[in-house]
Amino acid sequence: MFQTGFLGYPTTFMLDFVVCALVLVVPLLLYSLWLVKVRRRYLAHKRLQIALGLILLAAVTAFEVDVQIVHGGWENIVAQQQLDETQLAAKISSARPWLLVHLLFAVTTPVLWAVTMTLALRRFGRNPVPGPHSRLHATLGWASTIDITLTSITGLLFYYVAFMN
Ligand code: HEM
Repeated sequence: MFQTGFLGYPTTFMLDFVVCALVLVVPLLLYSLWLVKVRRRYLAHKRLQIALGLILLAAVTAFEVDVQIVHGGWENIVAQQQLDETQLAAKISSARPWLLVHLLFAVTTPVLWAVTMTLALRRFGRNPVPGPHSRLHATLGWASTIDITLTSITGLLFYYVAFMN
């Protein structure tokens, strides 16, 4: 169990699960921004952001355990494709630059999210409404939104290059 993916490529269950989570997070985030900017539903925005943060944290932690500890690195998952030694080496070196670009966003995103979330929870209080923290929150909030979107796009590109192609 959990040794094969469900999207039809030679991957793992957790890899495909995190790909789905990355695709889903973008529309959910857009919905949260619509709630706060158009509907002015601040509490709903707060709850959705907390839920999204917890779901992403759980998905990414399970994913990292699966890829690094269970499978011993993404290269071993690529090796599930029936390639000869030369093809495998070529595939790994062509996919690696995509992974590095993805990691640039994937590593900064949790840091930005944690800062945005912690400051918002502390400074907006239990019943959030616009106030003195709004300006900084808008900057951090948009930076977090752009970062997670780029994490998602580059993650999907890496998945395509390494596992679908
Ligand atoms: C990582 C999590 C979060 C992200 C990415 C995020 C993102 C955003 C963004 C992009 C805006 C629109 C800013 C603008 O252009 O006016 C916003 C507004 C707002 N957010 Fe968040 N948010 C997050 C978490 C939270 C939390 C936990 C709270 C409450 C404790 C909160 C409360 C608010 C409030 C009250 C506004 C309206 C501010 C205003 O219009 O003056 N947010 N958020």
